[in-house]
Amino acid sequence: MCGIVGYVGNRDVIKVLIDGLVSLEYRGYDSAGIAVNDEGNIKIYKSIGKLINLKNLLQEKKSEIKNVKSGIGHIRWATHGGATEFNAHPHTCSCGKLVLVHNGIIENFKELKEKLIKEGCIFRSQTDTETIAHLFALEYGKTHDLKQAVQNGLKQLKGAYAICVMHKDEPDKIVATRKNAPLLIGLGENENFVASDIPAFIEYTKKAIYLDDGDIAVVTPTNIDFYDENDNLIKKKTEQLPWEPIALSKLGYKHFMLKEIHEQPDVIRNVLNGKLCSIDEPIVLNEVQIDNDKLKNLNRIEIIACGTSLHAAMVGKYIIEDFTGIAVEVEPSSEYIYRKTVTNDKTLVIGVSQSGETADTITAIRQAKEKGAHVLIITNRPDSSMARYADSLIPVSAGIEISVAATKSYTAQLLSFYLLAIKLAEIKNSLSLEYLKNLKHELIQIPVKLEEILNNKIEIQKCARKFANYKNFIFIARGINLATALEGALKLKEVSYINATGYAAGELKHGPIAMLDETMPVLSILIPGGITYDKILSNSEEAKARNARLIALTSAEDEHLKDIFENIIKIPPVPEILSPIIANVPCQLLAYYISEFLGKDVDQPRNLAKSVTVE
Ligand code: M6R
Repeated sequence: MCGIVGYVGNRDVIKVLIDGLVSLEYRGYDSAGIAVNDEGNIKIYKSIGKLINLKNLLQEKKSEIKNVKSGIGHIRWATHGGATEFNAHPHTCSCGKLVLVHNGIIENFKELKEKLIKEGCIFRSQTDTETIAHLFALEYGKTHDLKQAVQNGLKQLKGAYAICVMHKDEPDKIVATRKNAPLLIGLGENENFVASDIPAFIEYTKKAIYLDDGDIAVVTPTNIDFYDENDNLIKKKTEQLPWEPIALSKLGYKHFMLKEIHEQPDVIRNVLNGKLCSIDEPIVLNEVQIDNDKLKNLNRIEIIACGTSLHAAMVGKYIIEDFTGIAVEVEPSSEYIYRKTVTNDKTLVIGVSQSGETADTITAIRQAKEKGAHVLIITNRPDSSMARYADSLIPVSAGIEISVAATKSYTAQLLSFYLLAIKLAEIKNSLSLEYLKNLKHELIQIPVKLEEILNNKIEIQKCARKFANYKNFIFIARGINLATALEGALKLKEVSYINATGYAAGELKHGPIAMLDETMPVLSILIPGGITYDKILSNSEEAKARNARLIALTSAEDEHLKDIFENIIKIPPVPEILSPIIANVPCQLLAYYISEFLGKDVDQPRNLAKSVTVE
């Protein structure tokens, strides 16, 4: 949620800030702003709506900007206060000398605001962030030292924050700090960068230093000093980022979502690489730092996640229970954190998160850790906050995902669960050698099968056009593909704003069937040979009898299906137990093409952000 970029150096500061914000736009896009120190004057430019508005504003104001060597920028996903220019960052103190940008939430901002108003501060916005600006400015008045003012001010803040602050009287300097929100420094030659995420500066440098909670960095073009929360000067490790700027380009695809859907066969090859070497060898998952005896005797697993990651967790539960007999509970992180759970030191808690920054999941895994559980994180961002709290980590290796709608990261999460479930089965000896060999053989075939789907996407595109103007949509499935139905509906909802719902097919007749008529498309996921095939077929017939418009997603060659289903989306044959990886991709394509056909903002759907860092 929200993105921060800061720069000190000799480049075109406005360009660095704007390019940085463009690359962070996937994190939020309600409003944006920058502040620069222009020959000793703090100048602030803000716009509501997409970044293009800020770009246009800066183009208009170009002539008034003279010589800038430092600046900070922010792109916002509104939490406190609507998406207005006043609420957009950067925020300043009453006299406008101190300016800052902030990600996160200040929990005690109401009390602080009352106190600051009594001390004469004039508030202009409804944000919690403005409180920090006034607070730091008051502290600056006492010390005339920006780092010290930040250090003193932080002691009064409760909540989560990543902050970059500048002061008129200390030009070419950014003071940066964080707590429970990501922030890192990019290191250059006679220039330095600060950002909430790597894309903001990867074009200029691959050398970076991650801030830890409580750290304060004083950043100038030629020097960076780091302090801990007790004001001790500290040394930090420089890391070489394994990223290529090309990962941030659409490579000719119209949208990142389409590009990311197409990357999935290679993502799977990548995930399997080194972990599934041959069908005769055990799965290699060195990342799981629990000894085999403990894993063997494990009798309870809890998986916590949100959104799409929660759907991956549902598949995870199904296969771990199926392969090993270990009881698995799946719960949305936002529910887990507000009840008395039975988590204890014998529980393995698995947190699943593309971004590794989702606030609810972070809180949930922290609670689990406090109760003594071993916390295993499955994430696409091994550099994330969650990865730092984890006892073990399975990196899903999907590569950076820019589109707000999760696609390739979901597939990679599924794969990670398959590898983990097989590994557990191997340790527990709970599956026959033959079954394991066959499973591994089928897993290795999956990338080619996905390529087949992608090569035939024109059929899905046609289907999308036919159904794009319907207001509602139902996805039905049973068993392991219930998660696919829920994920298919979520994807369609997110990118097209169609009211799509996923149901366990058997539940249709217990209520939802009342909604069915000729205005309701119903997509049934049917995997032949699976234990639920005939039942879903019957459930589809029930829907047909109510005049619903039926679509099948299936590998079945059954001619009879044409009598029931108006459209048949074909997928390659796959054992039901592995089918979620295959069946999900046509659902992604369907959502994509409907959104594109309706002219929606595919990569940045309204009201959403790529990582949700507020509870
Ligand atoms: O980064 P996470 O996987 O923790 O994010 C969880 C959800 O916010 C995320 O999956 C969301 O539902 C996506 N927009 C799905 O496309």
